Amino acid sequence: MTLRLGVVLPTYNERKNLRGMIQRLDKALGGIPWEAIIVDDNSPDGTSDEARAIAQEDSRVRVIQRIGRRGLSSAAIEGMCATAAPVVAVMDADHQHDPELLPGMLAAIESGEYDLSYASRFAEGASTEEWGRPDRVKASNFANKIANKVTGVELTDPMSGYFMLKSEVLRGDAHRLSGVGFKILLDILATVETPLRIKEVPMNFAARAEGESKLDRTVVFEFLVGLYDKWLGRWIPTRFALFGTIGGLGVVVHMAVLAAVLGLFGEAFKVSHYPKEAAFIAGQTTAALVAMTFNFVLNNELTYADKRLRGFVPLCTGWVRFLITCAFGLLANIGAATALVRLGFNPYPAAIVGIVLGSVWNFALSSKFVWGKY
Ligand code: GDD
Ligand code: MN
Repeated sequence: MTLRLGVVLPTYNERKNLRGMIQRLDKALGGIPWEAIIVDDNSPDGTSDEARAIAQEDSRVRVIQRIGRRGLSSAAIEGMCATAAPVVAVMDADHQHDPELLPGMLAAIESGEYDLSYASRFAEGASTEEWGRPDRVKASNFANKIANKVTGVELTDPMSGYFMLKSEVLRGDAHRLSGVGFKILLDILATVETPLRIKEVPMNFAARAEGESKLDRTVVFEFLVGLYDKWLGRWIPTRFALFGTIGGLGVVVHMAVLAAVLGLFGEAFKVSHYPKEAAFIAGQTTAALVAMTFNFVLNNELTYADKRLRGFVPLCTGWVRFLITCAFGLLANIGAATALVRLGFNPYPAAIVGIVLGSVWNFALSSKFVWGKY
């Protein structure tokens, strides 16, 4: 019996849903040789242990337990690369995707007529009634529209998390996928060079069985990041773009704090010998600290959401390291700009070069020293 289908189940806190999922796969896939690859991001509810318990009794089930990592997209990619099956599917592990659709999707690909098949929530004959989330339906429709515009992919539901494709197609382009966010299908469609022949299957998108959705809070943000990544990410890497944007916001914060300190406490400094300088030094120092802290927090939440530092001690160490990193960035900034001015450059363009250089330094250092495995 040659393996025909690998089913990737990315999981985060799905312990109670797993056993039922495997039973349903077994039932739906009847005579088809299949295996399931559960990719769990070390869920606190013990999903990995449950997956191993199931796998002990059923060797078609395999487990990848990722430590210190998060993300649906990257989990799906790793799972898809971990099977020897010629065709691989990805689906939710929470019973929202009906496994009964798998044989039809597989037949479409095995017939040689299609490279990819996917289940759509918005195709003719599909339904989202049971889901009971009109807000999410609206948001998904909106996201699908933007996705069509930016990527030129014309499907009824490129946001779907339920799809199947030839694994060699996936492996051929896996290194070019962004792995950011959770719009993995859209990512594949926008990345592969040769156009894929796609079979669309309408689905009845059910309500989640146990537990809750993980994608509510960050849906929009990760989606935008994903689009950016595909659109401009090749020229300016996404992380650096985020880091730079947050840096720009930091400048605004800095100015606001400086103005506030000068406005509020300017009077108080009049008693000293150098009222203006004293007020400015106090304002500039406070502003720089507040702005750096602001940058640290936002970068921790957004730019490095996947490596986010949590807990009091890691946050404090991270913060101090970030401040040190910024000091190095500042040295690079001032050094480069001064050198240019000495060479006869106009101070303003020189300042800009300094800022860009300083940011690159900050970015490079902090990605290693603050959010990396140092
Ligand atoms: N390994 C891993 N890591 N798995 C994850 C992560 C993660 O960080 N986040 C979510 N998952 C798993 C969940 O455990 C579930 O099996 C599946 O990925 C989908 O996550 P849900 O949290 O259930 O997503 P949803 O139901 O809100 O979103 C649905 O609609 C989206 C489009 O609007 C899903 O069908 C998505 O796949 C789809 O993109
Ligand atoms: Mn779900």
